[in-house]
Amino acid sequence: MKKISTVIYYYSATGNSLYVARELQKAVNDVEIRSIVEAMQEDKPQVNAECVGFVFPMHYFGLPLQVEEFLQKLTILESPYIFAIATCGVPYWGRPFVDAEKILKEKNRQIHAAWYVRLVSNYIPLRDIAADWRINIRAWLAERKLKKIAGTIEKREHHATWQLLRKFCAGYHDKWKAEQRKIDENFQCDREKCTSCGLCERICPRGNILRPQGQPVWQHSCVECLGCLHICPVKAIEYGEITKGRKRYRHKKIEVTELIRRTGKEA
Ligand SMILES: Cc1cc2nc3c(=O)[nH]c(=O)nc-3n(C[C@H](O)[C@H](O)[C@H](O)COP(=O)(O)O)c2cc1C
Ligand code: SF4
Ligand code: SF4
Repeated sequence: MKKISTVIYYYSATGNSLYVARELQKAVNDVEIRSIVEAMQEDKPQVNAECVGFVFPMHYFGLPLQVEEFLQKLTILESPYIFAIATCGVPYWGRPFVDAEKILKEKNRQIHAAWYVRLVSNYIPLRDIAADWRINIRAWLAERKLKKIAGTIEKREHHATWQLLRKFCAGYHDKWKAEQRKIDENFQCDREKCTSCGLCERICPRGNILRPQGQPVWQHSCVECLGCLHICPVKAIEYGEITKGRKRYRHKKIEVTELIRRTGKEA
C-alpha cells in the first residue's frame, strides 16, 4: 500500500466534522480524507500514512459509537503521528480522547494531539439551533483555530490541553450508550408531509432505516447521530413533540450529497 502523507477519517451527520476535515485538507500538505461510514464497509480497513487524523462530533461527552467501533476495527500500519478533533456545540469538555486513546493503546499507538472545535449543536431534542449571528461568530473563531491546528499538525507537534477535565461528565456517556439503540422509538414521521425521497435512509450510518412503503421505519439499532432528523427536506421527522417548531441544521459549506451514501441512482 502506497504511503500517503496525511489521512483524515471523518464522521459527520450535519456537516460540522466534514467541514473541519475539509479545512484541514486545504491547509495541510498532501491530505486524503476518508469517510468512516464508508471505511467501516471494508473487511479489514487499514491505513499507512505519516500522519493519521480522526474528526468526529462529540456525542454525550464522548465518542460516537460508530467512531469507537471504527477505531477498534482499523489497522494502523507503521507508527504515525495521530491527532483527533471533536466538533461540539457547547464549550464543555468530555472523555472522547480518553476513550480513543484507550483503544489506540491496545494497538500500541497514542494520540499526539487533540482539540475541541466548537461550531453549532445539532442536538435539537435539548434546544433549538443557535441564532445565525452566533453561528457566524463561532464559524469565524473555528476558522482561526483551525489555522493554528493545521500549523501544529504540519510540524507534528504535541498538543495535550485535552488532558484537563479529561473525564468530564464521563458517567452520562455510559448511561447514553446503554440506551441509544432504542432512542429511535422517539422518532415519528408525518405521512402527510413525507415525499418518500429516501434521504433519511441514505444518510443513516447504521442502516437503521427501512422504507417498505416509502416512509421511514426505524429498526432500533440507532446511534442517535440525528442525521435523518436534520436532512429531511420537508421536516416530516420529529423527535417526539420536543423538536416541533425547531430549526434543522446543516453546515452551510457542506452539501446534502456529501453526507449521504451513494446508491448509483443519482442523476
Ligand atoms: C446525540 C448527540 C449528543 C451530543 N452531545 C454533545 C455534547 O456532549 N457536547 C457538545 O458540545 N455537543 C454535543 N452534541 C452536538 C454535536 O457534537 C455537534 O453539533 C457536532 O459538531 C455535530 O457534528 P456533525 O455536524 O459533524 O455531525 C451532540 C449531538 C448529538 C447528536
Ligand atoms: S427524508 Fe423526509 S421526506 Fe424523505 S423519505 Fe425521509 S421522512 Fe420522507
Ligand atoms: S436512525 Fe437517524 S439518528 Fe439513528 S443512526 Fe440512523 S440517521 Fe442517525
